[in-house]
Amino acid sequence: MFVCTNVRCKPVVYVVYWQQWGDIMLKANWILPARDMGTVSPLFKKDFHPEKQVKNATLRITARGVYEAHLNGQRVGNFIMAPGWTSYHHRLQVQSYDVTALLQADNTLILQLAEGWFWRLKNPQPQAIIAELHLTFSDGTEQYIGTDESWLVAESALRFCHLYNGIVYDATHSPVFNEAAAVAADNTQDLLIEQLGETVTEQERLSVKEVIFTPKGETVLDFGQNMTGYLEITVDAKAGDKLAFSFGEILDKDGNFYNDNYRSAKALYEYTCKDGKQTYKPNLTFYGFRYVRVDAYPSAIDPQNFTAIEVHSDLKRTGYIETSDPMLNQLFSNIIWGQKDNFLDIPTDCPQRDERLGWTGDAQVFVRTASYNFHVLKFFKKWLGDLKAEQFENGAVPDFVPSFYPRTPQISAAWGDAIAICPWQCYLTYGNTAILEDLFVPICKWVDYITNITTKPYLWFGSTQYADWLELGGVYGETKGPTRDDLVASAYYANTIDILCKVGKVLGKDVTAYETLYTRVVSAFKEEFKDDFKTQTEHVMALYFNLTDTPQAVADSLAALIHKEGDKLQTGFVGTPYILHVLSRYGYTDLAYTLLLRKEYPSWLYPITKGATTIWEHWDGIKPNGDIWPVSMNSYNHYAYGAVADWMYGVAAGINTVEEAPGFKKVHFAPLADHRIDWFKAEIDTENGKVSSRWWHENGKVRYELTTPVPATAIIEGKTYELGAGTYTF
Ligand code: BGC
Repeated sequence: MFVCTNVRCKPVVYVVYWQQWGDIMLKANWILPARDMGTVSPLFKKDFHPEKQVKNATLRITARGVYEAHLNGQRVGNFIMAPGWTSYHHRLQVQSYDVTALLQADNTLILQLAEGWFWRLKNPQPQAIIAELHLTFSDGTEQYIGTDESWLVAESALRFCHLYNGIVYDATHSPVFNEAAAVAADNTQDLLIEQLGETVTEQERLSVKEVIFTPKGETVLDFGQNMTGYLEITVDAKAGDKLAFSFGEILDKDGNFYNDNYRSAKALYEYTCKDGKQTYKPNLTFYGFRYVRVDAYPSAIDPQNFTAIEVHSDLKRTGYIETSDPMLNQLFSNIIWGQKDNFLDIPTDCPQRDERLGWTGDAQVFVRTASYNFHVLKFFKKWLGDLKAEQFENGAVPDFVPSFYPRTPQISAAWGDAIAICPWQCYLTYGNTAILEDLFVPICKWVDYITNITTKPYLWFGSTQYADWLELGGVYGETKGPTRDDLVASAYYANTIDILCKVGKVLGKDVTAYETLYTRVVSAFKEEFKDDFKTQTEHVMALYFNLTDTPQAVADSLAALIHKEGDKLQTGFVGTPYILHVLSRYGYTDLAYTLLLRKEYPSWLYPITKGATTIWEHWDGIKPNGDIWPVSMNSYNHYAYGAVADWMYGVAAGINTVEEAPGFKKVHFAPLADHRIDWFKAEIDTENGKVSSRWWHENGKVRYELTTPVPATAIIEGKTYELGAGTYTF
């Protein structure tokens, strides 16, 4: 039970419906090697011979770490980095695999364990694994083969395996199973839950585009695409021959290999060969890379022997944008790749350096784009479950989820607000109310937390904020610009209360107290800031979150400021996703397109002139003169600025959800064309069918074609039309 103690809001008593955890019991024990194997990944083995005819066999398994299972030499399932990453001190997913087809008369089940994300855990228990094989015989009787001390353990050929630091593999090593497994001291199953998220699987296989010999004399394989996954190699070698590779996202200004931006992540790949032709890929870790430097290789390089395998959550693609402008198409491709590369079980900031964390701010700015590009409902439900589990008793929301310890998270506006923005967007895109039910109380707790800690009533003042993270216009090399912390925090506070009220109404809750709070917060914001906005982002906040009585004047002032600043973006993480929206909303569509189509730094297209195939963390990750941004914080695969795709879908193509008919039960079309683009089309495969919008120039006019599977309204050049299902041309 949670009692709202907020002094400025009517006391409300909530019943918190926490998911019942710990109701899965495996007829098995947590096992681990009886001795410390250091960095070596252990194998666990069980031989068995079913005594009767097997009708059905199911393997249920999870790990404190990551695992892979093989039955009779065959890989079980295709889940990479199973069991995935949850808030391990609250919950751990169990996977079930039907292995009936893999069974023989005599069977060998081998489980491999590596560290994965588990080392992030508070007071880490030793890595361990738990599994049960459930056999159902033709006569209806059953047998369970669970992990226990009868399992044998061996050191594997995987001598080292780390999430950030890569792998060391010795193919000459043959595992010797002559030790018994030990049952873990902490043999509880309290935290086990069924698999909730999508599985993570291998996706595209990319070939080497070019073998580059750099000025420094390095041999570098270019896969042509920055991506997340691993390298598969095939080599004909002698036992003891060494292979070594390094991974990078860019080449430096002289064309040499570069990966200082990985910071402490070593991303090793060291392989000792056995005799003969062999193929290997590491699959209990992953890398973020486009370039692979060959540091050791026993023979001449044949590009055909190298394949980059893309790995991410297995999400259904739903959204497509194509235009007559090749650079815009490349931008959209970069956004899609940025999403795939960072949706590996949780939404991460980046896939390569020593972070790869579920930063809440990044996820919330990108969620609308994400939900149009791919079907992400299940993916977000799982991650939001972890976010809810990690919300502090006082309502504070960590800045990334799952957390790791010891570390005190920074509690910041725009980051914590993911707790409201992500479920609300999932509701709008998919019409799913369960996600709102799940998050309603946590949203209230977050709002109450802010209400309780602020130093100025009805605003959020007095906390350290990430604010408009990576905004331009500040001290070079700093992560924050001139936009005021308290302004961003107060704007998000208002927006989240607004969402809370909408969620409450959908769910039939009494949100009167929060409606009153919202009115007061909006008034306090207007009173405090008096429409005196200093930066682009400050204007954007007030406009996008409806915090001004004179929006047109504020929009005019924003446009004037942008012109004064040379028609350049100055915005960071929180201003960037909304700036085009507010410009087009208040009559500055032309300027919005100018910003979108700008090719010089800073802009969305500038990185493409530098060869980007994913979205960069910084507008100037590589500067016009080829210099590289300081290594402290410089990823070339950060999806946040890719949020511009929601303007491309929602304004350029004009495809919008309708709040009263979520999940595209109705569509609102309002495309806004531009003379600098010959044609533009977008399509979203929604819960209710395919919605598409296309425009092109013909005889000095713009023609529009809209397709809707459901009733829709359309605003075309100022005129409103009511449409039934069908395709219409205007
Ligand atoms: C991450 C960001 C994140 C930020 C928080 C960085 O290290 O890469 O994307 O949101 O920290 O301020």
